[in-house]
Amino acid sequence: MAAVTSLRTQYPNDLIGVDDDAVRLRWQIDADDARQQTGSHIQVSHDPDFGSVLAERVDVGDRQLDCLAPGGEFVSRERRFYRVMAELDGVWTPWSPVCSVEVGLLTADDWRAKAVTLPDDPGAISMAPSPLVRAAFGVESSVVSARLYVTSLGAHSVALNGKVISDSLFAPGWSAYHQRLLACTYDVTEMLVPGENVLSGVLGDGWYRGRLGWNPGQDRCRYGTELGLIAQLEMTLDDGSIHTVVSDESWTASTGSIRFADIYDGCEIDFREAQDGWTSPGFDADSWKPVSVVDLDPVIIEPWISAPIRQVKELEVRCSEGPNGVVRVDVGQNISGYLAIEVAGSAGSEVVTHHAEVVEPGGALHLRALRSAIASDRFLLADDQPTMLVPEFTFHGFRYADIATDAEVLSVRAIVISSDLEERSSFECSHEGLNQFESNVRWSQRDNFVGLPTDCPQRDERLGWTGDAQAFAATANVLFDSHQFWLSWFRDLALEQTEEGVPSVVPNVVLEGEPRMGRAGWADAATIAPWATYEATGSTASLVQQLDSMIRWVSTLQSKRHDDGLLGGEFQFGDWLDPDAPASEPWKAKTDGDFIANAFFSHSARLTAEVAAVLGETAISVEHRSLADEMAALTWERWRDHARTTQTGCAVAIELGIAPVEEHPEVATMLASLVRAADGAVSTGFLGTPLVLPALSRHGHFDTAYLMLLRTGVRSWLYQVENDATTVWERWDAILPDGSIHDGIMKSIDEQGENPEDPHMLSFNHYAYGAVIDWVYRNVGGLAPTIAAPGYRQVLIAPKPCTQITNATTAIATGFGELRLDWAVADQQFTATVVVPFGSQGSFSAPTTDQSVVTVGDRVVTKPITLEHGTHHIAVTHPAVASPS
Ligand code: BGC
Repeated sequence: MAAVTSLRTQYPNDLIGVDDDAVRLRWQIDADDARQQTGSHIQVSHDPDFGSVLAERVDVGDRQLDCLAPGGEFVSRERRFYRVMAELDGVWTPWSPVCSVEVGLLTADDWRAKAVTLPDDPGAISMAPSPLVRAAFGVESSVVSARLYVTSLGAHSVALNGKVISDSLFAPGWSAYHQRLLACTYDVTEMLVPGENVLSGVLGDGWYRGRLGWNPGQDRCRYGTELGLIAQLEMTLDDGSIHTVVSDESWTASTGSIRFADIYDGCEIDFREAQDGWTSPGFDADSWKPVSVVDLDPVIIEPWISAPIRQVKELEVRCSEGPNGVVRVDVGQNISGYLAIEVAGSAGSEVVTHHAEVVEPGGALHLRALRSAIASDRFLLADDQPTMLVPEFTFHGFRYADIATDAEVLSVRAIVISSDLEERSSFECSHEGLNQFESNVRWSQRDNFVGLPTDCPQRDERLGWTGDAQAFAATANVLFDSHQFWLSWFRDLALEQTEEGVPSVVPNVVLEGEPRMGRAGWADAATIAPWATYEATGSTASLVQQLDSMIRWVSTLQSKRHDDGLLGGEFQFGDWLDPDAPASEPWKAKTDGDFIANAFFSHSARLTAEVAAVLGETAISVEHRSLADEMAALTWERWRDHARTTQTGCAVAIELGIAPVEEHPEVATMLASLVRAADGAVSTGFLGTPLVLPALSRHGHFDTAYLMLLRTGVRSWLYQVENDATTVWERWDAILPDGSIHDGIMKSIDEQGENPEDPHMLSFNHYAYGAVIDWVYRNVGGLAPTIAAPGYRQVLIAPKPCTQITNATTAIATGFGELRLDWAVADQQFTATVVVPFGSQGSFSAPTTDQSVVTVGDRVVTKPITLEHGTHHIAVTHPAVASPS
């Protein structure tokens, strides 16, 4: 029988205590026979059994994605349940499974908790033991329901009656702390007992007070010198009374086994300093000091909206004997996380770890790429019992580690951490190298989506670089369900934006003197990333939320135009890390930075126009479209000849609509000849790389696109795979063709000449070049969302076989359900099985030649082929097969 099989909101299913954003419902329908949804009926209730209905709405039509739920505004703590029934060709399904949304504390007035910490905390001056805070309280009878609302200055871990409350790590994440501090909510009903209870917390420096950025000495305490736990426990007892326990002056503080912990440098845990039982009732806390209360205006606290950072995988490792008797660990995969090591030694035995992404030819860990990040953990044992060692409030980007110890190492495992986003897709084809590269890109996303989209997870950086994020946004959206993750970061982007523009890193922590604001291709994350999110998910949430920021960014650009109408003369990162730029000056790309600046200006204006049009803001749309056209025309007039000389110039001209449409085919031909002349070698940096294959294939140059995609020598995606990469490299030649490691030397942007203090830049885990995977899903996988009906409501299904890729299986978990394409070419015959979920519609573009006959099932068809939901078998004789050679 036809049924609505799944109903979801925009939030991860297990997240409670969210913000009061409009609830957006989506549902999936299982109905082989019905043709389409003709209507829907949504009900909202405070009661999971829908005894009484708070609001309901009946709609006509086929909308089953991004449906705004009725019910009006939320009040703090409110929980609502939703269900839906769908009308399919005039017949109603039964009610769907129920889903719910529970909001957190929405106003400053809701917060009675104060920020508490260790008095006279030496951590305000230099790294010091983590503050521990606790309170004991009585509960008179059984608890019917209880919520803990908690946030902190610094990172926290909270426990109730000796048990850690949540598996969130580094809560409350990293946001523009002075304007937006995220609060987490946990259901702790089952953890409370009648009698004495203890609520406790450990504080870590985290991003709030720990090191940030690459200038040692100026890099701690960016947001403040004092940590603070803000915890509010609200309990409803069986007699209906409500009791609240809040962090305040009555709490006490001390320190324990965590002697220091820093995200970049690692931690030290001395088990001899542990205060056994301090998180449980019955502990004697007489020697503890009253906490100090830190000033905090609760106005900045707002509920979280995205999945927390968690342990997402645990991996087996290989251990061997390393240099100087250390245990050398190979995780087999470059990860963000740490080791969990079980050892047995004696009181005072020391265990020290170091981490690295690669090993030097001589066998030592390559630590130089970490720059000033020490990335080392130290443990001191309390006794001779087997002890599990897991670092606290730190993580490392690594594949290899050395463990130095006299103790016996009993076992080692690798713990992977990430923002816990659902995987959205899978891809496998006949080309092993491409499969490995897809895996590498997925890992680079997992390793860098840690609270916010970062550049890299290993060195003294790990910042929300906006350029990297915009380059990768489309790919990120196909690999993981990143919608809420982006939405949260976009809020910080808009908050950190000023009249000077959008910062190069969000949250904005780059030091004064660096080119911090409004750089082309970086600041444009403001327009590009929300638009990519809309295309992939079909949700207008990112557009509604960000339109104002987009308009502000375009208006900053407007204000910088010179008399000739163009931008110019400012420092630009430009096509950063163009492989033809001097290795130590990655901003000196072949393609003129001023061309890039004006092209991205036009592009941002155009995207703002598109967004305004989607949201029905016609006047804004018209104004921005004409600005986009004007900037494109001026830019092309000025840089036409120059742009046609580089891969990035051509790709930008086509993909950002800078060249007039009628010139696109010719520019694409220029681009193809540049790529062929280079034998497929990539000569683009961060900005050109996402655009180059789309620019080629849009104009039919598939042979050339594949030549580039499947090249294996240096300056190619697969060169990394050949060199054993398990994540994406920052530089095309991070390992040089002779097997040595790139020296990574870089000059400072604002200086001339060499300087012994020059920074070093060499990461093996930077996702920007992985942006090509969006193209792979669309063209090798053959599944592309369309902007006119986003979120895969209309899918362009256009697989492009090539001589070196003879089959591919691709699946995407769309809002409608799984979309899947399996195709293969053999004996001049192309066959495909397509599964289109209910609510989605495919437009199949077969890889045909003049001799082809196309069949769907046993019907011979001529183009175009529309595929409704269901499973379809397609065959094409004499198919078109691209040839990269
Ligand atoms: C970061 C990049 C970033 C760049 C901008 C680097 O240090 O790691 O990925 O986009 O600086 O200049």
